[in-house]
Formats: sequence, C-alpha cells, structure tokens
Amino acid sequence: MRVESVRGMRDILPEEARLWQALEAEIRSLVELYGYREIRPPLVELAELFSRGVGEATDIVHKEMYVFPDKKGQMLALRPEATASVVRAYIEHGLYAKGDLAKLYYIGPMFRYEKPQKGRQRQFHQYGVEALGSLDPALDAEVIDLAWHLMERVGLSREALVLRLNSIGCREDRPAYREALRSYFSARKDELCSDCQRRLEENPLRILDCKEPQCQSAIAGAPQSLDYLCEGCRKHLEELRGMLGDLGLAYELDPRLVRGIDYYTRTVFELCSRELGAQDALLGGGRYDDLVELLGGPPTPGVGFAGGMERLVLVLSQHRPANTASPALDVYVIPIGEEARKRALAILAQMRRKGVAADLDYMGRSLRKMMSVAARQARYALFLGPDELAQDRLTLKNLASGESRTLPRSEFLAHPQRFLS
Ligand code: HAM
Repeated sequence: MRVESVRGMRDILPEEARLWQALEAEIRSLVELYGYREIRPPLVELAELFSRGVGEATDIVHKEMYVFPDKKGQMLALRPEATASVVRAYIEHGLYAKGDLAKLYYIGPMFRYEKPQKGRQRQFHQYGVEALGSLDPALDAEVIDLAWHLMERVGLSREALVLRLNSIGCREDRPAYREALRSYFSARKDELCSDCQRRLEENPLRILDCKEPQCQSAIAGAPQSLDYLCEGCRKHLEELRGMLGDLGLAYELDPRLVRGIDYYTRTVFELCSRELGAQDALLGGGRYDDLVELLGGPPTPGVGFAGGMERLVLVLSQHRPANTASPALDVYVIPIGEEARKRALAILAQMRRKGVAADLDYMGRSLRKMMSVAARQARYALFLGPDELAQDRLTLKNLASGESRTLPRSEFLAHPQRFLS
C-alpha cells in the first residue's frame, strides 16, 4: 500500500524549491541590511512555552497545537510560531546582557492543526524578525518599513497590498477594556458560538478574532481598544503614525484588528494582499512588551513580525509567469563513444571544482536524447567525441544562440567561467 504525505503538509518539489531558494536569499539579504542576525531555535519546545507565551485561550494553543508526551511523559509541542521560541532563547542565553538591542531573524517550518485550504496548511513556513530591547516607536516604524520593503523587493506593488494598523494598549489599559468587552458580550451571550462563550470567561479579547458568521454582528458593535488607551499608548500610536507618514508608508487604521495571540501590547499590524481571498494576510506582527518578563526574563520590550512563505509564493506565482526560470545547469556534458565517456567524468569533476554547475547522462541515452536533455536543463552543451579526443580539445555549444566553438581542453578547464558568459 502506498504511504502518502500527511494532510496539510506538502512536498516542495525541485521546480518550486528554486523559487523558495531565491525568495529566502532575498529575505536574508534584506533583513541583514537592517541589522538582523539569524537565530535557529528547535522545532520542538516544551508545550508550556506556548501555553504561557501565546496564551491558553488562543485558537493556536487551544485547538491547533501539536502536543505530545516524550518517553518520560514531558509534554512537548511542535512550534506553532517562533516568537515565543526566540524570546525563550533570548532569556536562556542571556542575550540581553550586553544591553544592546537584539535583532534576530528566522526562516523555518511551523505547525498548526488548522483546516487546510488555499494559503493555509498544517506545516507551513514563516520568515520573521524580532527586535528586543527598545520601546521607541521608531523601531515599530522600522519593522513596518522592513515588511513593506520586503514585499517590494520580491516584486509586489504597493497597490496590491494594504497595511492594517491598530493599537491594543498595554497591561494598564487591559483590565478596563477587558471588562468593557465582558459586559458587552455578556449581554449578547446567546448570539455567540460555543467557543466564544468559553472565550467570554477566559479572555473576551479573543472573541474579536472569531471567524464564525454567527458572532459577527455582536463583534461589529463591540467596544474598541482605541477608546481605552492610556496617555502613553495614545502617544506611542500618534508618534508611529507620524513616522509612517514621514516614510511615505500608507496604512489603514483598523480598530477591529486584534490578532489571535495574547502577547501583543500597543502596536499590531498586518500586511494583506488584495488578491489572496480569505487567507489574505501575507504577514503580521506587533509589539510584545511583556513577553520577556512573562517567560521569566528581565522586563524587556519587543517588536516583530512573521510572514508566511507559502502565501508569498502564491501571490508571486500569480504575478510571475511560471516558465521564466533559467536552466539549472551551466553545462551538460555529451560524450560520444566509450573512451570519451570515461574522460568525461574527470572533466565534469574539474568543472565542478571551478564552480560550474555541470552534469552528465547516467541513463545510457542516445546522442539525440542527450541533446534534448541539455536543451532543457543547461545553457551550454560540451561535446567530447573522437575528434576532440584526438586533438585534446572540447566543443562548447551555446544552446540559446546555437553558436559552437572548439577549445583546447586545458585552456577551457583552467578558467571555464570565462567561456560561459
Ligand atoms: P501569525 O499572524 O499567527 O503571527 O502568523 C504570521 C503569518 O504566518 C500569517 O500572516 C500568515 O502569512 C502565515 N501563516 C500563519 N498560519 C498559517 C498557516 N496555517 N498556513 C500558511 N501560512 C500561515 C505569528 O506567528 C507571530 N509570531 C508573528 C510575530 C512575530 N509577531 C511578533 N513577532
């Protein structure tokens, strides 16, 4: 019987993987330009990290997390997101000790047991940045600028995107806001789905990100966090809005945006595609000024975002025609005859040591078949036949222009790149 991949977890095959590699390279080079350095936390953490960090009442922890005991009964989780892991590592390795701002980025798989659909999977990949150590709204602006810049860099136009921004206040504002939500929703309890009735007890803020149609009319009239901001939070938001204006970054203030994670304070934002349909958030993030302390570290503010690689690939594939990829190989070696084939192995090995992407037929194909593989996979064909052997030369054919030239073997192998412009 055939064994298939797990629902919601898919293979990224070589053709598509090339696009992923190019995107990952763009992301790395850009975030490094902003001073971020890579961190690679493990995929498995103690489940408690997320129940405390992300929040027990969130869908991510309550419904979607892959949790399992190890052989000693310790409860582990496949990470559903990486902010909590980065903060755990930040505390565990004392990265705060130097008193500097820590700017960290990651790219890797995350796991959530969600209902799979276009743009939503159970294993998906995020790229993300986290800046720990400053309360300055200029850092929020920089993080948002980075998010915009990244989208432009990979080829999305500003018109295709919308930035949604909100402030959900700090822990001083939260009790009054939570009370306002609780009393508002308690009066409408009968209109709420069973999950939201539970949320009403645990954390009424989480009702605001419920997607059930039955809850939407109650949600529409709910009190808004913007009306409960303290002076400090109001000033933070106003300063940030001014800076986004100075940077020429458009945004929509969206009082309904709360994001589905408990650690946020003050700024929250999402950058959405106007073309993606229901799962339209390309990336999301915000401030989390209490998370380091909540997880046992010294009080340290933080801000960051993460985006979904799959969603980026989806919108990009709507913009870029599929077959514009250049061939994977520089050179396909075509030996003619047994003797040539033996020599070809050494030539291939030497080319690769000079940094040339090269390959050879291992399937016993005919000359004609080898030519057609070369045309599909390489920029050049390198022929090695009886004439070439006799003269110690090689024939190099440019497969785009059809031009051929015969060169001394040693001259070509000394500097192959010179002949492969
Ligand atoms: P999040 O909004 O849960 O935030 O996820 C960020 C992004 O990951 C989403 O905007 C989406 O593009 C992608 N994503 C989430 N779930 C899925 C899924 N099931 N399938 C495909 N893509 C998905 C966070 O995870 C926070 N840690 C972001 C953050 C970093 N906040 C501060 N720092």
